[in-house]
Amino acid sequence: MNGRHYLTGHWHSGGSRRFSKTNPSDANQTLGEYPIADAATVDRAVLDARAAFPAWRRTSRIRRGEILDRLAKLIDREIDAFARLMAQEAGKVLGEAKAEIVEARHMVEYVVGTARQPTGEILASEVAAKDLAVIRKPRGVVAVITPWNFPLAVPLWMIAPSLLEGNTVVFKPSEETPGIAERLVELAIEAGIPPGVLQLVHGTGEETGDALARHPEIDVICFTGSYAVGSQLRQIAAASPHKTCALEMGSKSAVIVCEDADLDLAVQATLLSAFKTSGQRCVSAGRAIVHASREREFTDRLVAFAQALRFGDPLDAASFAGPLINQSAMEKVLSYNALAAAEKAEMLLPGGRLTGAGQAAGWFLSPCIYRQQHSPTLRTIREEVFGPHLAVIPFASDDEAVRIYNDTPFGLSLGVISEDFRRHRFYRDECDYGMCYINLPCIGAEVHVPFGGVKQSGNGQPSAAGLVDAVTHRVVVTTNHERGISMAQGLSSRVK
Ligand code: UN1
Repeated sequence: MNGRHYLTGHWHSGGSRRFSKTNPSDANQTLGEYPIADAATVDRAVLDARAAFPAWRRTSRIRRGEILDRLAKLIDREIDAFARLMAQEAGKVLGEAKAEIVEARHMVEYVVGTARQPTGEILASEVAAKDLAVIRKPRGVVAVITPWNFPLAVPLWMIAPSLLEGNTVVFKPSEETPGIAERLVELAIEAGIPPGVLQLVHGTGEETGDALARHPEIDVICFTGSYAVGSQLRQIAAASPHKTCALEMGSKSAVIVCEDADLDLAVQATLLSAFKTSGQRCVSAGRAIVHASREREFTDRLVAFAQALRFGDPLDAASFAGPLINQSAMEKVLSYNALAAAEKAEMLLPGGRLTGAGQAAGWFLSPCIYRQQHSPTLRTIREEVFGPHLAVIPFASDDEAVRIYNDTPFGLSLGVISEDFRRHRFYRDECDYGMCYINLPCIGAEVHVPFGGVKQSGNGQPSAAGLVDAVTHRVVVTTNHERGISMAQGLSSRVK
């Protein structure tokens, strides 16, 4: 596969500088070579997206919705091919890949559904002859910089609302999932997105992503990825008065298992939270915070189930989850596993590289589970690991559980397992998060609600249904229906 940029109606193979994409399940298999967009290519992509903006903005919102409706149908048509590609590129097992493609389609369908909905509101004025209209206007050119772990859904969380609202987009996907990005753009072309409205540039974050974010004609930066990169993007945006950003960043999400929890539910919710996608969701739980009276029984059952989970070939229906995305991701997880032991955790499942049949050439890991007392100085229970690495942390009171949960720099997702409605509200109100799940895993958000976090997890501009606020301005239009001028607040309108 020879990758290409897509600029203003044409595919371009780019210059000689390229990166290779390999299969995380088999590092010997190269899936494709892709070009790296330099600053000049990014400049062209952005300027053409700027040039395409006025005509797209003036296209009827309902017409824009119809084009996106076709895209939703094309995604559905391609679900099997997309799932196989996602299994190869991202290492997602087919069942999870399909769920993600459905989620991606849901996002497009959701915004199509808003095409005929009100886009503003009419308010009364103090002056009887005036009407006040609050309307949304597109901001302009949106940079969409996305991760590999949700290579179709997360781009569409950003691209679909941006386009429906009348913005144009320059899309820089992760180097780990360039093929899925190309396929998405091919379908967007087939659906009828006009040239310049959706541009695709491949490349690294350091070069291509940086040039894109800094480009003066970019109005909004939408980003999902690490806190380190997100905070740099925020600084880049702050340097230009017109530029805003919507950031989804790291997490150290958790499941809190209360004294009164249904343990079957608690164990199942924790396994799904910690080990689905091999722990590589931004919402994945790195911690199970468990009432001390239930801890022994909980961990015994958790460990027994975790030992039986199958981490293997994403194309094999028997696999629970696939590999880590690349060697450095795997090595990072292994180093945190070692650090947990060095921090004197009680290791319940050590975790390690899997080297059985079909695993040895890939980045497969078995789950690491350990018991640790909370302490604000321990790195393993505060830092994001992004892999199958779970701390079980005991607590003695609900107040203490909240203190432990909140004692990380992040605040993304929380699962609370309790049969007591008073506890539900207590945790709901006292914990720092963007998404709280009661008697559920802390993964599995739906697209028609905002998706985001607080503290170092997000900057208050949630994605998915929440993204409309990031890619539009709200403006006020006041219209006078009488011949003379009457001012609000009793201000005199006399000019002589
Ligand atoms: C992510 O965690 O990187 O909530 C995105 C979920 C999915 C999306 C996750 N709908 O688990």
